[in-house]
Amino acid sequence: MVKWWKQSTFYEIYMPSFKDGNGDGIGDFAGMTSKLDYLKELGIDGLWLTPFYPSPKVDNGYDISDYYEIDPDYGTMADFETFIQEAHQRGIKVIADLVLNHTSSDHQWFQESKSSKDHPKRDWYIWRDFPNNWVSFFGGPAWEYDAKTNQYYYHAFAKEQVDLNWANPEVKQAMFDVMKFWLEKGVDGFRLDVINFLKVNDSFQDNPYDLEKKEQIHLFDKDQEGVIAIIEEIAEFVHQYPDKFLVGEVGSEELDILKLYSGLNKLDVVFNFNIGSMAKFDVDKLYQQLVGTEQAYDSTQIPTLFFSSHDMSRHISRFGGDEDLAKLVATLMLTAKGVPFIYFGDEIGMRDWITDDLSKMKDVQGITGYKLALQEGKSHEEALLVANEKSRDKSRTPMQWNARANVGFSEGKPWITVPEDGYKVTVEDQINDPESMLSFYKKLLKLRKKHSSLQFGDYEFLRNEDGMIYFVRTDTVEKVLVVLNFTDQPKTLEVEVAATMKLLLSTKRTGLDRESVVTILANEAVILKGDIGNGLVKER
Ligand code: GLC
Repeated sequence: MVKWWKQSTFYEIYMPSFKDGNGDGIGDFAGMTSKLDYLKELGIDGLWLTPFYPSPKVDNGYDISDYYEIDPDYGTMADFETFIQEAHQRGIKVIADLVLNHTSSDHQWFQESKSSKDHPKRDWYIWRDFPNNWVSFFGGPAWEYDAKTNQYYYHAFAKEQVDLNWANPEVKQAMFDVMKFWLEKGVDGFRLDVINFLKVNDSFQDNPYDLEKKEQIHLFDKDQEGVIAIIEEIAEFVHQYPDKFLVGEVGSEELDILKLYSGLNKLDVVFNFNIGSMAKFDVDKLYQQLVGTEQAYDSTQIPTLFFSSHDMSRHISRFGGDEDLAKLVATLMLTAKGVPFIYFGDEIGMRDWITDDLSKMKDVQGITGYKLALQEGKSHEEALLVANEKSRDKSRTPMQWNARANVGFSEGKPWITVPEDGYKVTVEDQINDPESMLSFYKKLLKLRKKHSSLQFGDYEFLRNEDGMIYFVRTDTVEKVLVVLNFTDQPKTLEVEVAATMKLLLSTKRTGLDRESVVTILANEAVILKGDIGNGLVKER
């Protein structure tokens, strides 16, 4: 039987920002439950929830202080259970974000570990007499001095996010217990945070420096020997439970690295940052990466497709704000080969938010960037630029439900600013407008669900012709041709006109002349269906 996740489109919910149910200005389970019908209507199959466990929220939940509870900001365990039940009733799966690499410095385990050098949990974290040159991914040294025991502990991210020592079997066991707990609570799998960081190099050698990029090369602090073996153990453990799904965040754009982590006996899929985190829209790079992934992955490996997340700018803003382009990107994401992950709000075309008021900035990465820039002697204005570049608040503003108070997100004061222009881009405004971004996403999701070749089909071919990417996906019953004209010029394509050829979707028109040469309009996305017996598009 085909695994459910191979047919699924996921939707990432950034917990504090989706829907507040109790008026405290923070999204929660009750709020999400009230929006399950919206999600069902939209047509998604699975939800990825960012961490919802108790946390001091230095990094908004990616610093967990108790792995067995629900953070009171998000509700109670009963609210969580109701949410899971209601989601399942609607046929929606739920995967939980799990941070295995580090805990909050407030976690009991770390409190014990730091209490003395001979505490049995001392070795649960990474302690050294002297630091090396490794830098944290949020900036600054990755080692923090502890005066009481006169040693340094390692943190790949903020100093309040302390790296666990996965070389210690007790740590592994403790985390397997955590996974068991949530699997038995009914989650359908996990998104495993920074999973390629679980091991650091035992030699603790200094990392080299890239003179050109003026930054450290993270040679010894991620993707280390032994990490794949741990991942295999995690996969074996989780897959004992039927139908559970694992998606890993492997923070790398290198296909050679990405391909090591998924497939048979490993993670089901990993995030393909090689495609997802393109800084600027570049059709040639996009095409190369699609082809590269095809070549690099074996038959047990399936890519993921996403262009936004809580860690990056929204693609519509990053790629210049153009709605046509956003629709082309959405079409690619929902018709190319891979498991798609939509970031909440992208379906209505929500945009980035940037602030010049530092007191409004919430993200630890932005705030750390600002402080370090000042330390380097930069002025406030210069430091603010650095902070804004690094800050991930851009894509973390509240979901824009309607144009009323706080965009209908909360009856209280939202934890993060609602962008002023957010009131112009809302669900309420778009839901009954057939031309809206929201209606377009719904159409795409319906098409994907209806056409097996869009879920499972192989590429019969995949081409890029001067900025027009087109591909045919085929399975045993049908062929679907997707043409994405990323240019401002009309382009032609020669197709085989079989009696059954049908226009499934276009971003620019409702019908298509039955001619063998089709003009693809500037910035148009077209999806055509053909029969298995035909070529559908002529090779040239
Ligand atoms: C992942 C999360 C990010 C977090 C980091 C540290 O990259 O997606 O939000 O800051 O891990 O846990």
